[in-house]
Amino acid sequence: MRVLGIETSCDETAASVVAEEGVLSDVVHTQTVHAEWGGVVPELAARAHLEKLGPTVQAALAEAGIARPEAVAATAGPGLIGAVLVGLSFAKALAAGWDVPFIGVNHLEAHMLAPLLETPAPTFPFLALVVSGGHTALYRCEGLGRYEVLGQTVDDAAGEAYDKVARMLGLGWPGGPVVDALAASGDPTAVRLPRPLPNQGHGAYDLSFSGLKTAVRQALAREPRPSDADVCASFQAAAVDCLIDRLERAAKDTGIRRVAVTGGVAANSELRARLAAGRLEAFIPPRKRCTDNAAMVANVGRRYLLAGRRDAFDLAARPSWSPA
Ligand code: KG4
Ligand code: ZN
Repeated sequence: MRVLGIETSCDETAASVVAEEGVLSDVVHTQTVHAEWGGVVPELAARAHLEKLGPTVQAALAEAGIARPEAVAATAGPGLIGAVLVGLSFAKALAAGWDVPFIGVNHLEAHMLAPLLETPAPTFPFLALVVSGGHTALYRCEGLGRYEVLGQTVDDAAGEAYDKVARMLGLGWPGGPVVDALAASGDPTAVRLPRPLPNQGHGAYDLSFSGLKTAVRQALAREPRPSDADVCASFQAAAVDCLIDRLERAAKDTGIRRVAVTGGVAANSELRARLAAGRLEAFIPPRKRCTDNAAMVANVGRRYLLAGRRDAFDLAARPSWSPA
């Protein structure tokens, strides 16, 4: 079954065709209008999706060498509601026009199962750490649609923390890739930063990044001010330590050593290097499938469609929606 996937939950307009034999096309257009505002402006995102979605879908179909797919899947949430609505409505209209099945996909579930598109793919059960700009959560995945939230951030998402540190340093937006690049030339031990543990009352696998962000702000106010590269390297070491710590604890306690790490922050070089060198069996998609893309949406949609699920055209867009 060849499935067209559509992703418009944030600032990437993306379309992809996924079939039995794998990903046939994977087109991603990243909106640039937000950089001058230092973050995604929801209304601008929705308008830009409207402009780019038609050509993006056409490109994905052309690249896959098909005139029309056998089903259409689109992100139905969580995300910016106006942005989600554009892709979801477009997908419904295409499915109705082509008279093919339609299905709405949870964006976090799409990130979570993105490693299933790769070889080797993790087999169930596995742990999935989804680290993006809006979400940071650790799941236990038992099978399609069978997930348990083991832990999540109690304040900022990991990507949000990267973006805020970049903003403090005046490095522009999005901050993750810039901080990652600068960290390479810095000393990770130059600035002493905490590895915050969740407070009492929170779970053992929960994460917290706001204290780390505050510690970076305080370090920047000190004389002499540490170099940007040292701040980036020290922050990155602390953030990655926190993520790896919760993953390792969960792996130890559950006895599940297969871990999928996905979402924009999974593109981070330090996180990837640490996981590659660590003791867990890590499944990290290539960078372009860590950040927002539509292949991951088509992948999840296709799996549910093959299991017999179909969604009605009145399926609502959801700004928040836990996959578990
Ligand atoms: O998954 P994603 O593309 O969009 C959301 O669903 O949020 O994640 C975007 C987030 C941003 O916060 C961005 O700064 C972060 O991922 N990010 C990174 C890196 N590349 C993107 N964070 C750390 N290191 C990177 N190399
Ligand atoms: Zn995402």
